Amino acid sequence: MNVQEKIFKLRSELQYHNDRYYVLDDPEINDEQYDRLLRELEQLEAEHPELVTPDSPTRRVGAQPSAAFTAVEHAVPMLSLANAMNEAELLDFDARVKRLLETGQDVDYVVEPKLDGLAVELVYENGIFVVGSTRGDGRTGENIAQNLKTIKAVPLALFRENDLPAPVRLEVRGEVFMNKNEFERLNAQREENGEPCFANPRNSAAGSVRQLDSRITAGRKLDIYFYGIGRAEGVPFTTQIELLAALKKLGLKTNPLIKVCSGIHEAVRSCAELESQRNALPYEIDGAVIKVNSVLLQSRLGEISRNPRWAIAYKFKPQQAQTTVKDILVQVGRTGVLTPVAVLHPVRVAGVEIQRATLHNQDEVDRKDIRIGDTVIVQRAGDVIPEIVQPVPELRTGHEISFSIPVVCPACGEKAVRIAGEAATRCVNAACPAVLKGALEHFASRRAMNIEGLGEKLIDQLITRDLVRSAADLYTLPYDTWLSLERMAKKSADNIIAALEKSKTAGLEKVLFAVGIRHVGEHTAQILARHFQSIEAIASATQEDLLEIHEIGIEVSESIKAFFSSESNRHFFNRLREAGVVLYQAQAALMSDPAFAGKIFVFTGSLEHYSRPQAEALVRQRSGRASSSVSAKTDYVVAGEDAGSKLEKARKLGVRILSEEEFSKLLEAPA
Ligand code: IVH
Repeated sequence: MNVQEKIFKLRSELQYHNDRYYVLDDPEINDEQYDRLLRELEQLEAEHPELVTPDSPTRRVGAQPSAAFTAVEHAVPMLSLANAMNEAELLDFDARVKRLLETGQDVDYVVEPKLDGLAVELVYENGIFVVGSTRGDGRTGENIAQNLKTIKAVPLALFRENDLPAPVRLEVRGEVFMNKNEFERLNAQREENGEPCFANPRNSAAGSVRQLDSRITAGRKLDIYFYGIGRAEGVPFTTQIELLAALKKLGLKTNPLIKVCSGIHEAVRSCAELESQRNALPYEIDGAVIKVNSVLLQSRLGEISRNPRWAIAYKFKPQQAQTTVKDILVQVGRTGVLTPVAVLHPVRVAGVEIQRATLHNQDEVDRKDIRIGDTVIVQRAGDVIPEIVQPVPELRTGHEISFSIPVVCPACGEKAVRIAGEAATRCVNAACPAVLKGALEHFASRRAMNIEGLGEKLIDQLITRDLVRSAADLYTLPYDTWLSLERMAKKSADNIIAALEKSKTAGLEKVLFAVGIRHVGEHTAQILARHFQSIEAIASATQEDLLEIHEIGIEVSESIKAFFSSESNRHFFNRLREAGVVLYQAQAALMSDPAFAGKIFVFTGSLEHYSRPQAEALVRQRSGRASSSVSAKTDYVVAGEDAGSKLEKARKLGVRILSEEEFSKLLEAPA
């Protein structure tokens, strides 16, 4: 056998075993044997780069980051589904189907789990994966082929039984998702790194797939189930269930829980069954999709306003669970606010284990009447942070203990104060270790100084050992001290030093945000940095100077003045400067776009093409403003999918509403 033949053989063997493992869920060899084959192939390809093909199983590794995704037009638009919220609405759907088909007979339906992930389309030409894209606005998506290639369950070449010819062209659609374990692993890792956690597996899948650097995608275990097609040539089928079987034969993974049901009542039962299985599944589902099985009937039913009339999504009820309150702790945040947090007996809700839920403040605890020892109902609906809905007073034993916020700070023992008219109780001790911890965590966080590797555990050690009393101390801590910390090897100490070094050039607006001046968030920090260009200028600005900036009001200006009037705060900046932290504005590449300059944008709902911070950054880059709440001053509200109350408010106030598409057009329009 020559090298080329050997490479071919290895590839088809690997492809076969991939299919057994990922699609058929019935592997014939173990991971080690698989890895050995893969390494053998890698070795041969390294020696003969001219024999590498894009569909080789070795090509799954992430590629170099790209600047942006290119657009991909879907030959057949990717539709979305109308929702049914309850059984009655499913019966309505069935009645409409029968009316349109002019039949009194039961219709065959396919019931599929509705995965909560990201819809994608993959194109195979003569069996080779060539393009993969997001749904986008349904007509045009983004080419994320590089990222999709890193998903093990995505075949780079279709499987051909008995070497039959591959379909000439197949546009296949499916849902990319992250299973619950991987989601928890990823969030734990992010927390450790001081990065923000993903709210749910859906966001983490979407965020991972839309990475410009596919090496990041490769590091996150994503999975996919296929459920439909766009244009296809050479894949014969007459029903949805036949289509799914054909896809599976080609090596395209389909969900094993899919069922054919005759008549709507059986379909309703299937939906209920899926709903009851929901928590036991390794991935998150938010409903079931019911599809008319016959392709002929599907085409007779057609579509209306971007929804097929032959399918509907049955939405499950928001997930609730019952658990008990073990304790109510008080956390002290970086602003000194004391927040009561319920410690719960761990319970899984919507794919995520809940152990804690914030109770916000004393008023909230009183309003809901939540006591230690209570049985409570907790819920997570979509993106929402877990919350306690209510206690179950019938289950009280009389041993429950009412909670009242302490009069001293639990971290430092100093008196805590509640300012009249405010819900919050605060610790006002500037040297409080809990305040310091929160301040350091904020300082190091990604959106602030972005000091990679400086996570909660390290910060804890620094404070307990009294090595650091302010963020400025981080820059003067000797190397050996870092090295003396627990679980700190030479390599990690080097990394921390390098990360600290890098953070020095984060820029004025990051520093201003990082120090945590009350009422100075990212946006205000940016405005201040651009206006004053240096810390000295801000520190010496009068309140009138500050108020001249139209975005800055009395409260913010007072807070800034108070901050810089403190001797110790000025000293803090001097120390940062001495350490080499850049405290002036580097000339940023700002554009002024008349369509954006001075205009206030509010984003609501989920956008297909941009994350919210990304969309907001695009606005700011063009000298516009991004705000989180709608008022009469708002110029535009950009409404994504599932936009809610902000959209309503915009309508009431007559604020101009843009679709995501219109927003994209505005971005693209020549300035
Ligand atoms: S079919 C014409 N099947 O739900 C039918 N969609 O609003 C269009 N989804 O964008 C989709 N699981 O992201 C279909 N088994 C399934 C699905 C599914 C999840 C998602 C998909 C789509 C959305 C529909």
